Amino acid sequence: MAFMVASTLVRSAVRASAAVTARRAFVGARVAARPAAAHIVAATRSSSSVASVRMGMESDLRERLTALYNETPCMPIMVRLAWHDSGTYDKESGTGGPIASIRMKPEIEHDANAGLTVAMDLLEPIKKDFPDVSYADLYQLASVHAIKFSGGPDIPFRFGRQDATEKVVPTPADRLPDADKRMPHLRDIFYRMGFNDAEIVALSGAHTLGRAHKDRSGFDGPWTHVPIKFDNSYFVEITKENPDPALLRLESDMALMDDPDCQALVAKYAADQDAFFEDYSKAHVKLSELGVSF
Ligand code: HEM
Repeated sequence: MAFMVASTLVRSAVRASAAVTARRAFVGARVAARPAAAHIVAATRSSSSVASVRMGMESDLRERLTALYNETPCMPIMVRLAWHDSGTYDKESGTGGPIASIRMKPEIEHDANAGLTVAMDLLEPIKKDFPDVSYADLYQLASVHAIKFSGGPDIPFRFGRQDATEKVVPTPADRLPDADKRMPHLRDIFYRMGFNDAEIVALSGAHTLGRAHKDRSGFDGPWTHVPIKFDNSYFVEITKENPDPALLRLESDMALMDDPDCQALVAKYAADQDAFFEDYSKAHVKLSELGVSF
């Protein structure tokens, strides 16, 4: 029953017209935008006052995001948006990363990003009310706040990401992982960003949230019974000998069993949610800050 309710909520969230939903979220937001000018004026003062202005802005933004998530349970797609923005990073060339290049063509048109305009449209009214925040910071904050709102860990966040401009050379379409490939492919993709095997396992646990959509990736269904709750149930489900036919298992999920050390970590996270939250948090911070100089 819980699954039915949750998946209906998630389905209705993504079915809703982005424009209509964004408008409703905007109108329904309990927190009126604070005057952005105050942030600008104060930001010209000392570094400690800049820090306190940023703290104020973060808490105002989080209140707006809470209002949005109460209205529209779009937390999973926000996590996917932030990951797809940062997951283009290449540590050798320093290109890609969390620079909001995902909002521009041709990146947004890459097959891997199908459906993500829904998330960006939902965030646009918030961006309009907070012109000082970069899109890159807003996308990453929307993700960490979505995880916390869904019952997950409180992931540290800091401002300072710069938005890409039209002058930035677009990243190629093959920077994000394919769902029908196994561990060698995942290693190619994640090592390129600077991650190791343990971090691949922890980050894959984000699939505890959300679902796949036929009209986006071609896959269909959620990974867990309550896809709007961030917990360790993704690992619990993929370690079951008899998979639940209602739940999704991508090749890239099962790839985590290809290596004995990764498999041991999957078993550990299935048994110990605190251990998962701790490792996930660290890996998520790294993902959200790839290539950024603060
Ligand atoms: C390990 C390689 C990965 C592959 C191959 C992969 C693939 C996919 C696919 C095919 C979907 C379905 C998209 C759709 O049809 O809407 C999806 C959804 C999702 N992915 Fe991943 N993913 C990977 C890693 C990650 C990571 C690292 C994160 C976050 C840290 C993440 C977060 C999500 C979330 C939250 C959703 C649900 C989105 C929604 O409900 O709208 N994924 N992923």
